[in-house]
Amino acid sequence: MRIAVVPGSFDPITIAHCDIIARAAKLFDLVYVCVLANINKRSMFTSEQRVGMMQKVLKDMKLDNCKATSYEGLLIDFAKEASAVATVRGVRSISDYEAELAMADINNKLNNALETVILLSRPEHRAVSSSVVREILAFGGDISELVPMIIVDDIKAYYNRKDA
Ligand code: PNS
Repeated sequence: MRIAVVPGSFDPITIAHCDIIARAAKLFDLVYVCVLANINKRSMFTSEQRVGMMQKVLKDMKLDNCKATSYEGLLIDFAKEASAVATVRGVRSISDYEAELAMADINNKLNNALETVILLSRPEHRAVSSSVVREILAFGGDISELVPMIIVDDIKAYYNRKDA
């Protein structure tokens, strides 16, 4: 069985992430969509909230070979525990590519058995990111075009609860 990890902050999951996950699900038998910590980012949603929203989205998309989870530690350690042969990342731009190259190089130094598979984001998703979603949310704007419809209310509820 070919197992892959789609790692990320998913803070929150966007339609661009969903497209990459769905494409990874066609390439691998089993895909772990794993929330990991990015120490350069302060998260808006808890890890439990992010995994919960991802579970809803994967079910709604009928991606039965994808499992949402979280891990406290290095991606390579999660990949080893999950018996994953590859990590799959989406790239929207040259700056994304440079960051992914650096991350792939480090992961490769730590474990050269883990392949990094880069999928090019769809052109219509180039401007979609979790940070844009968080910014629009912070100013009370409409996020419904950027995140899966099934979690729009959860995102708003978690955001409002946080401010309460
Ligand atoms: O969605 P993001 O923030 O671009 O995802 C980045 C993430 C979480 C995949 C990356 O920061 C990560 O792998 N974090 C876990 C710690 C780790 O393994 N670091 C070494 C690779 S640089």
